[in-house]
Amino acid sequence: MRKKVTKAIFPVAGMGTRFLPATKSVPKEIMTLVDRPLVQYAIDEARAAGIKEFIFVTSRGKGALEDYFDLAPQLEQELRKKGKTELLEILKSTNMDSGAIAYVRQHKALGLGHAVWCARRLIGNEPFAVMLPDDVIAAEKPCLQQMVEAYAETGGNMVAAMEVAPERASSYGVLDISEDDGELVKVKGMVEKPPAGEAPSNLAVIGRYILSPSVLQHLNKMKSGSGGEIQLTDAIAQDIENENNVHGYRFRGQRFDCGSKSGFLQATVSFGLAREELRDDLRTYLKSIMLDGDT
Ligand code: UTP
Repeated sequence: MRKKVTKAIFPVAGMGTRFLPATKSVPKEIMTLVDRPLVQYAIDEARAAGIKEFIFVTSRGKGALEDYFDLAPQLEQELRKKGKTELLEILKSTNMDSGAIAYVRQHKALGLGHAVWCARRLIGNEPFAVMLPDDVIAAEKPCLQQMVEAYAETGGNMVAAMEVAPERASSYGVLDISEDDGELVKVKGMVEKPPAGEAPSNLAVIGRYILSPSVLQHLNKMKSGSGGEIQLTDAIAQDIENENNVHGYRFRGQRFDCGSKSGFLQATVSFGLAREELRDDLRTYLKSIMLDGDT
């Protein structure tokens, strides 16, 4: 029987330079989408997919992230005293079971592959998920859950895949495909940030992965790749050479790149409109500024 995926790595050790000066003191993953930090969306998605162990790869200055997952007894007491049961419930939904969450330091930002490798001892010899909290995916069935279900059939390695415009391909890891059956594609190679016009397809890798532990062994020997960083895609591509299969999974849902300002703003509007208590006000405001723009 295939082993269940119960562990997820959340690499959050990057510097988040695109959000300076905010990220000078606030970790990017704690920045708020409507009323919850980005990382809460990722945790909820992981839980829905059956993840039980949450491994964060952090760096200097990410203390606020650890505090976020701590209990807040004083705050809870205050809310209880004031009878604010709804807020109390919201607060409780952010609590993590004792021992379910672990933190590993990446001492130098040497790349995503290196960040994942830093968690190797906590993974051992099991398949595991990797989730990048700045990729926020709005979906009826959470993206990682879709992938875990598909993975039960395929095994091997699986990456979330999304069509991108050809001129955008050089910002992503791009799949080289041998078979395409719509939802699943069989991958024969992967190229990280291909030069303009050289992308092998328009299917880009998005920040959700289910990986075999053999990828960690490749990362043991990895040298820097694109941009001088140790790339996760290179280690996954190496697994294809070792005849372990890699599938791209076209998830159903809308992905927002909350690592970029424009993506974060779009996510804020979209998630705001999805909330019943905010929808009417926000819609009225958006309509009013669109009308102004026309004149
Ligand atoms: P990004 O490429 O978005 O980099 O990393 P960044 O540092 O977070 O942001 P910018 O580009 O400076 O604005 C993608 C994901 O990989 C993690 C980041 O934390 C983010 O979740 N990462 C990246 C690491 O954990 N370690 C690294 O060395 C690099």
